[in-house]
Amino acid sequence: MTLPFPPAPFPLARPRRLRASPWVRRMVAETVLTPADLVWPLIVHDGAEDRQAIASMPGVFRLSPKAAAQAAVEARSLGIPAVALFPNVDVAIKDSIGTGATDPDGLIPDCIKAIKDAAPEVGVMCDVALDCYTDHGHDGVVEDGRILNDATLERLAEQAFIQAHAGADIVAPSDMMDGRVQAIREALEANGFSDTLILSYAAKYASAFYGPYRDAVGSAKMLTGDKKTYQMDYANTDEALREVAMDLAEGADAVMVKPGMLYLDIVRRVVETFRVPTFAYQVSGEYSMMQASIANGWLDEDRAILETLHAFKRAGCAGVLSYFAPQAARLLAG
Ligand code: PBG
Repeated sequence: MTLPFPPAPFPLARPRRLRASPWVRRMVAETVLTPADLVWPLIVHDGAEDRQAIASMPGVFRLSPKAAAQAAVEARSLGIPAVALFPNVDVAIKDSIGTGATDPDGLIPDCIKAIKDAAPEVGVMCDVALDCYTDHGHDGVVEDGRILNDATLERLAEQAFIQAHAGADIVAPSDMMDGRVQAIREALEANGFSDTLILSYAAKYASAFYGPYRDAVGSAKMLTGDKKTYQMDYANTDEALREVAMDLAEGADAVMVKPGMLYLDIVRRVVETFRVPTFAYQVSGEYSMMQASIANGWLDEDRAILETLHAFKRAGCAGVLSYFAPQAARLLAG
């Protein structure tokens, strides 16, 4: 930004005048964070317990469909507009093509229905990817150690259709196959779901910071190799703009950058280039590293949470997926 005129010299200018009290700081704040900026990711499971602790993510629980519905009710009362669902399913149903991902009576359809019964005003976002359902932990169909792009597209389109059919409002492909948004949009159009939103994880980087999540959904122990042939190389930023351009051209309504805190430079470039609703995901590793510091007394919990979430707004995000969502919404309510 070039200033229209040079800043006045001291003592005519005293920037501290605009910081001198809470009311003036509030009055001149350039960005605001509200509960409406938050999306609450819920890890759901098909196990017996309503709430099961996750060792790598203190404060996050694997929820039964019933408990997920209760969380959605809580989201509604906190002013959080939407929840995002991620499944941990029994290993017994995992196979090489992720059959469970397209089971109309599976865990995710059950959760969507339970949530829509309990809190229909809350938006439901679903992850479109096969990794939680495959016995190799990859997001696509694997053949001879290669992740097959085009064969995966059919599976993803069917998965998104199953989710929309069960009542999902937003399908969010996080798999990073080429052409998935087009395949999903065509499947939705062909089946009468023209109003279903697609929020594509357009710029998703191959990251060490998904580690705790893979433990949470049970894909860590299945995963062979890494995801670098489909998720992005963290050396790149122009490539993120090409990914976003493709996904928008294929019919995405909104896009996501992931991970979040480490990739706010990407968020800023995407927002300035495309001016479309851009989300970011404060991922599990970012969450857990903060929780570890909080547990040690090294970070002040409330202040650290609000400061990190505000950073997303400053970068230009329309909203942020964060495991801190309910806690942050409570803090914001004062
Ligand atoms: C998988 C998926 C991942 C996350 C969301 N969807 C992990 C991965 O790509 O391995 C990560 C979320 C988090 O770390 O909080 N399609």
